[in-house]
Amino acid sequence: MISSTFNFSSTAIWKTLAFSTLIIIVLVIFSNQPNSLQTDIIHVATNQSFLPLNTTNVSHLVFGLVGSTKAWRYRKPYIESWWRPNTTRGYLYLDRTPTDDLLPWSQYSPPFRISDDNSKLLEETKHVAPIMVRMVHAVIEVFREEREGVRWYVMGDDDSIFFVDNLVDELSKYDHTKYIYIGGHSESIISNQIYSYDMGFGGAGLILSYPLAKMVQQNIEDCFRRYPYLNSADLILMTCVNDFGVSVTPHQGLHQV
Ligand SMILES: *[C@@H]1O[C@H](CO)[C@@H](O)[C@H](O)[C@H]1NC(C)=O
Ligand SMILES: *[C@@H]1O[C@H](CO)[C@@H](O)[C@H](O)[C@H]1NC(C)=O
Ligand SMILES: *[C@@H]1O[C@H](CO)[C@@H](O)[C@H](O)[C@H]1NC(C)=O
Ligand SMILES: *[C@@H]1O[C@H](CO)[C@@H](O)[C@H](O)[C@H]1NC(C)=O
Repeated sequence: MISSTFNFSSTAIWKTLAFSTLIIIVLVIFSNQPNSLQTDIIHVATNQSFLPLNTTNVSHLVFGLVGSTKAWRYRKPYIESWWRPNTTRGYLYLDRTPTDDLLPWSQYSPPFRISDDNSKLLEETKHVAPIMVRMVHAVIEVFREEREGVRWYVMGDDDSIFFVDNLVDELSKYDHTKYIYIGGHSESIISNQIYSYDMGFGGAGLILSYPLAKMVQQNIEDCFRRYPYLNSADLILMTCVNDFGVSVTPHQGLHQV
């Protein structure tokens, strides 16, 4: 070792040469074997799903917010604090046509939709909580409306506050092509105890991957028929999603207040 430092010009050059020859030989060996490491590298690099270009961004999220016409003027500031007109996608679902004081509709609010009339379904299922049925039904209404390039459906109330960039970063860590249901545990241990730790508590926002939302869309009416006695939206959704064999993926960043 010591001699090589003093005798740099000869020993080091020889070592360098020997080393680079080794590299060349290794490369030659690999390039002669089309099915080995080299092809694997190319294969991964060309798979667009792994490129940062294709990572989740704000356009892949669709928000479904459920509110009431009567309360909207009090709730609007919560939503407008984070909503980005023409950037964030989604709708506010109202129970009835906006009253004159809400018109013209603010361009800084999400566009509104009137929730589907579920009276027939309610009559048939005798569901105990019509308002909750409306909230869960919003999942399939927003799915019906926005599908192009959607990876995640984010369901919230008319007073939910989302930190959009943070949400995008967090969601990009999950595989949106799988059945994923993300929710927050309740801050109340008792609630978790009663309703199971498998529940995403709705006050905190519930997030469904595209394939899961599609499955909910196909089956939710049957869930209402099976569980007419469930009296909260998050509980209905949890039970239904659990029936498909999907458990909640708890996320510590979702909070009910
Ligand atoms: C690319 O990656 C995805 C996973 O994100 C995988 O499902 C797919 O099969 C891959 N495609 C190719 C051509 O390897
Ligand atoms: C981006 O990923 C999706 C799957 O999430 C895939 O269907 C699509 O082809 C990819 N886009 C590009 C440009 O590769
Ligand atoms: C989000 O990514 C998609 C490709 O997956 C791209 O078409 C779209 O323009 C991007 N949107 C933003 C706001 O970057
Ligand atoms: C959103 O886009 C529409 C049409 O492209 C435009 O008229 C409107 O001013 C935009 N809204 C905001 C808040 O930029």
